Amino acid sequence: MLQNVDLRLFPDGQRLAAEMVGALIGVLARRQQAGGVASISCTGGSMGQAFGQRLLELQDRADESLGLVDWAKVHYWFGDERYVPLGDPERNDGLLQEFFDRLQVPESNIHRVLGPEDSDDVTDAAYAYAEQLRATYPELTERFSSERDERTPIFDVVMLGVGPDGHVASLFPGHPAATATGVTVGLTDSPKPPPERVSFTTELINHSARVWILATGAAKADVLADAFTGAKPDLPVARVSGAEQTMWWLDHAAAEKLPRHDD
Ligand code: 6PG
Repeated sequence: MLQNVDLRLFPDGQRLAAEMVGALIGVLARRQQAGGVASISCTGGSMGQAFGQRLLELQDRADESLGLVDWAKVHYWFGDERYVPLGDPERNDGLLQEFFDRLQVPESNIHRVLGPEDSDDVTDAAYAYAEQLRATYPELTERFSSERDERTPIFDVVMLGVGPDGHVASLFPGHPAATATGVTVGLTDSPKPPPERVSFTTELINHSARVWILATGAAKADVLADAFTGAKPDLPVARVSGAEQTMWWLDHAAAEKLPRHDD
């Protein structure tokens, strides 16, 4: 069984996203009230989309909770990015673009992976992203370790969607990127298109205070059960955890095969 995983279950993805954004607002507000600089890592896929939509909904109805956070001062990173030009609808950073525009988040706080127009190749883009991370977080310049007691949390929250094969970010089971060391890794042959991607390593993801796994749908049920029960400890989703909290946010369909759970 995976250790120290908190489970949160919801009837559907919309309610999951609503609760998750509420919890995120709490984390970021507390961090800023304490005088800290909040940093999050965002995901792509359906949950990245649900996240962006929920933020826009709150903004549309001028929800007071949104005002608890100074969104222009949060640092936004992307746990993985598709290596396609900036502005391409395939890019993960585009899922939050409308929110960034409406909230006037300065470009200096939106940490984007370079596209092919600004880099030699995907390895170069991965290297540049690692440099950007190191320049922002000097802790990363020292050799870092995945040992729990030696971790330096860099991000307040890393959000990660999960594929039906158990991948998180662009760390696919059995792919060398899944066990890469260092800060970031470039892929040229991702099993999920597009083939070229830049991803955080497992090691970097684990330098987060909180890792939030987000998944909906029956297609993910088997792999989540395999990770949760410890049957397949090498699955990328089974290898990521937060220094303070590892939370799995699932809908009932995705959680269906987990050992007995309370709703
Ligand atoms: C991407 C993602 C990827 C995604 C999962 C889950 O670039 O595609 O970052 O890791 O989060 O594949 O995607 P779905 O939620 O759409 O199944």
